[in-house]
Amino acid sequence: MRIPDETVEAVKQGTDITELVSSYIKLEKRGRNYVGLCPFHNEKTPSFTVSPDKQICHCFGCKKGGNVLQFYMEVENVSFADAVRKLGKPLGIEIAASEQVANDSEMQLIRIHEYLTDLYHHILMHTKEGEGALKYLEDRGFSGDIIRKEKIGIAPDMRDFTKNALSDKGFSLELAFQAGVISRNEENFSYYDRFSGRIMIPIRNHQGYIVGYTARSMDGREPKYLNTPETSIFQKRRLLYNLSDARKDIRKQDEVILMEGHLDIIKVKMTDVNNVIGLMGTALSEQHIQVLNRLASNVTLMFDGDQAGQNAQLSLGADLLEGGLNVFIISMPKGMDPDEYIEKYGPEVFRNLVKNEKRHYIHFKAEHLLEESMNNDMAFSNNLKMLTDHLKYVKDQVIRERLIQHISQLYKVDRKSIEQNVPNQAGASSMGTVARPLKQLPLRERKERYLLRALMKDRDLFLNFQDKISEEVLTAPRYYVIFKGLCAYFDKHDEFELSSFSQYIEGEYFSTAVEVEELLINEDITTEEVNDYIEDLSGIRNSEKEKQSLYQQLQEAENSNDIELQIKLAQQLNEINSRYKR
Ligand code: GTP
Ligand code: MN
Repeated sequence: MRIPDETVEAVKQGTDITELVSSYIKLEKRGRNYVGLCPFHNEKTPSFTVSPDKQICHCFGCKKGGNVLQFYMEVENVSFADAVRKLGKPLGIEIAASEQVANDSEMQLIRIHEYLTDLYHHILMHTKEGEGALKYLEDRGFSGDIIRKEKIGIAPDMRDFTKNALSDKGFSLELAFQAGVISRNEENFSYYDRFSGRIMIPIRNHQGYIVGYTARSMDGREPKYLNTPETSIFQKRRLLYNLSDARKDIRKQDEVILMEGHLDIIKVKMTDVNNVIGLMGTALSEQHIQVLNRLASNVTLMFDGDQAGQNAQLSLGADLLEGGLNVFIISMPKGMDPDEYIEKYGPEVFRNLVKNEKRHYIHFKAEHLLEESMNNDMAFSNNLKMLTDHLKYVKDQVIRERLIQHISQLYKVDRKSIEQNVPNQAGASSMGTVARPLKQLPLRERKERYLLRALMKDRDLFLNFQDKISEEVLTAPRYYVIFKGLCAYFDKHDEFELSSFSQYIEGEYFSTAVEVEELLINEDITTEEVNDYIEDLSGIRNSEKEKQSLYQQLQEAENSNDIELQIKLAQQLNEINSRYKR
């Protein structure tokens, strides 16, 4: 089903590219544009550029980007229709159901979660079945507001409740199984509930769609937490719990706080600290690091105050540091987790802790390793080496200085010897800015670009010359592709606009279109001039062919020692060369 052009246009008009992009990556102003680290590929130097004037964005590195819709499609990995729908929503632009993509299989799995979440939540809040769980949550200090906001629920303690509810509602049990909300007996292929008698905490993906659960038992039943299994929409290496809700605050504060427990995160949200997220499990993936890197420069780890929490902080912290982030630790008192801390000391004390008690990862580690180092000379040397190795990832000079000072005091070694042992800063020399030197293009190519640019900005001119342009004129394939795109574009549009044009060409050519569009040319270029260009370009092309054949003949003449022919051919070559003098 096609979405009307007016709807697409309205969504594009209503969505600001800078705002949209900046909800995914940090942007810095550079002249009229903004730049940041590309969300589509891993990079250390920002080459992702947003132009508010043109309402487009693109990456000089991986060539991805486009208008608001294309950016959204790419970054969220959704269809065109979904992008229009999602961006249209806050603008009050609704897309009729008939226009929605029906067989979007992931959406079907999400619908199952939406239905079940509402059902479980209803049972918790409004039925006798939910009373025990609701009391349990209230006793643990979770307010009605937060329970509603997070749509926490209860899965009744029955074997077939969820299964029956789903089939009554017409959902396919096979799909429900694929969604991970029911299990299957592999002997007789019968289905039964995966989650029974558990508090259901919905897990949303980064778009805010519910894609799974972490389900806590209340009666000591093992395991304490049962999660959705890996499914096509629930992938632990990709998910970051609470990210959809925390994203804005993370960006605003340039800091993300990472915690172990999901209920900890929910409790922390009640204290108005909102930049908190969690992993599903303790494995930090390459994807996680990439996502975090794009969102903020600082990660604060706030794990449980037990041995497991400490170990996790030490190991994740090193990965995050090496991944290019500044890593800080807030230590919990022994035996406490953030939830218990808040219950014991209240939100105010907790907020102060978050504000005031951040130690740099290296500082934390230096203290952690101190005792064993002092009693063991071999450990001393190894640990000191590990710490100085970490220092190379600290980009901020001031923090680096301070850390060297800490280590020097703690380990009673001269700071100079620490400084000397810090390996060369990772990628330090290449930490420049985006300034991209414009490649000096060959004359031929410059002319082709110029011609394309002239045609691009003037529909009348374009239509006038459309028939004269061929692959002989625009010999660089990418320019010819853009030309073909322009043919389709001007068929529908009166004026050239990059953000609309981007839908007419493949993403990889879009960057080139942007570059061409940015060329400064004489805007009053006349029909005659364009004509000259075209003749010139086809002429050069022809002369190039002619020259090749002359060279070949010259070669043959040399081989056969035909002096006279050689002179004649050389003269012809000279003539062509001077005709198209560069
Ligand atoms: P509460 O006891 O309800 O306060 O939860 P908690 O978050 O304090 O639990 P705990 O400190 O025991 O565990 C920390 C995190 O580890 C949990 O939030 C879970 O993500 C995870 N976890 C704990 N127990 C289990 C388990 O039995 N299975 C799985 N898959 N994860 C668990
Ligand atoms: Mn806890």
